[in-house]
Amino acid sequence: MEIKVSENVTSTPCEVLVIGKFEGEKTTVELANKYAVEKDRFEGKFCETYLMHTLGQIPADKILIVGLGKKEEFDANKMRQAVAKSVKKLQQIKAKNACFDFDINADYGKSAAIGALIADYAFDKYKNKKVDKVDEITFAKFSEKEVKEGIIFANAMKLTRDLANESAQIVTPSKLAEVAKNLEGITTQIYDKDEIERMGMGAFLAVGQGSVNPPKFIHMKYTGKNVKRKIALIGKGICFDSGGLDIKPASSMLTMRDDMSGAACILGVMSALKYLEPDVEVHGIIAACENMPSGSSYKPGDILTAKNGKTIEVDNTDAEGRLTLADALCYACELGVDEVIDIATLTGACMVALGTVASGIMGNNEDMINRLIDTAKSSGETYWELPMFPEYKDSLKSDIADMKNTGSRQGGASIAGIFLKEFVSGPKWCHIDIAGTAFLEKPQKEFIAGATGAGVRTFLNYLKNI
Ligand code: BES
Ligand code: MN
Ligand code: ZN
Repeated sequence: MEIKVSENVTSTPCEVLVIGKFEGEKTTVELANKYAVEKDRFEGKFCETYLMHTLGQIPADKILIVGLGKKEEFDANKMRQAVAKSVKKLQQIKAKNACFDFDINADYGKSAAIGALIADYAFDKYKNKKVDKVDEITFAKFSEKEVKEGIIFANAMKLTRDLANESAQIVTPSKLAEVAKNLEGITTQIYDKDEIERMGMGAFLAVGQGSVNPPKFIHMKYTGKNVKRKIALIGKGICFDSGGLDIKPASSMLTMRDDMSGAACILGVMSALKYLEPDVEVHGIIAACENMPSGSSYKPGDILTAKNGKTIEVDNTDAEGRLTLADALCYACELGVDEVIDIATLTGACMVALGTVASGIMGNNEDMINRLIDTAKSSGETYWELPMFPEYKDSLKSDIADMKNTGSRQGGASIAGIFLKEFVSGPKWCHIDIAGTAFLEKPQKEFIAGATGAGVRTFLNYLKNI
């Protein structure tokens, strides 16, 4: 879909003119007021739609009215959802072009563009019959700058969603490395198995050793013009999580190609930095591998030594994400960054606790946690803080090593956070668990089933706001 901006669209011929209506108010189009509002009593409840023919009375063939709800409750998040809803409706009626004219003073161009492109997204490359798409939309009243930024954000989300939706046959650790190497405006270093071994990443290495597809350690770097802060972003990059020798039941394994959603998020974020030019140094880090059962797999009872020298007894080979993140966290801390954020489809427990609406957040700095929660909120995502009570550490005790990789099932998301904390020394750090939010089994709000691009918008806004 192409998005354009124009001063005025009411005199432009187009298939559909999309307008908004607040509850208890009229629209800006007389024809719509006469038929939809006065005769049919269309109220304009949030995201309700009303479609009417214009019979040539105005240049547009049809008018689509979208309810904007109560004026005093309207904000950028509602704008995004209203535009997304409109685009879905346009797809439904097989419209190819539309003009959007909302009677709103604020410049919501960024959210409008993001909403349109989230709704426009489809993963239909393997379908012979493609999804009906709108070719072109034009926004009135929004600035080109805001709309352009929205398109940058949406393109980043698209890369993330495409990578997470794609099958694990295609998205291997080498494929992630290749995507990272091809990013514009980013310098990328790829470490192969031998170098991973030499760097002392015994935990990461163990997870990948059962697969025929070799692990890759990916380090991307972006340097802004006026570097105000140095940040490392780490994404969990398990290209397929079978559980390993502690193999998952079939139903739980079904979507485990999405276990690299954290990595896909970081690749999406890095892909946009060249265009957004934030005043930061950003390190994008991915320890990519597959967790597979085979004769060379790591085993329950194995003792692993992480990059910082700490030893881990493998209690369950399905708690693999934290092992790969442990070494990635050590690596990131050695870069001398101010802040580290890791994002991971880490625990089923987080999904049980928060469902598919909110991602869990934990960390060692309350101010950073709150800044991320606030940024998420204004970006259209929801982060919910989970506790890291020190008592949880007891369940990670091992008789023969410094710790086990798995603790009690109860409080599983927090225990995973406590485990990760053992590998952070120096920088401020936050951990975001997107197990429930990265990949939807059924459609939710403006998202179709599948990958959502969780984390991308929040991280980009977080970097931009520094
Ligand atoms: N990748 C899974 C977590 C997950 C579950 C993500 C569901 C998305 C949806 C992770 O590696 C895992 O298997 N975690 C185990 C940990 C357990 C063995 C301590 C879990 O949550 O069951
Ligand atoms: Mn697992
Ligand atoms: Zn996993």
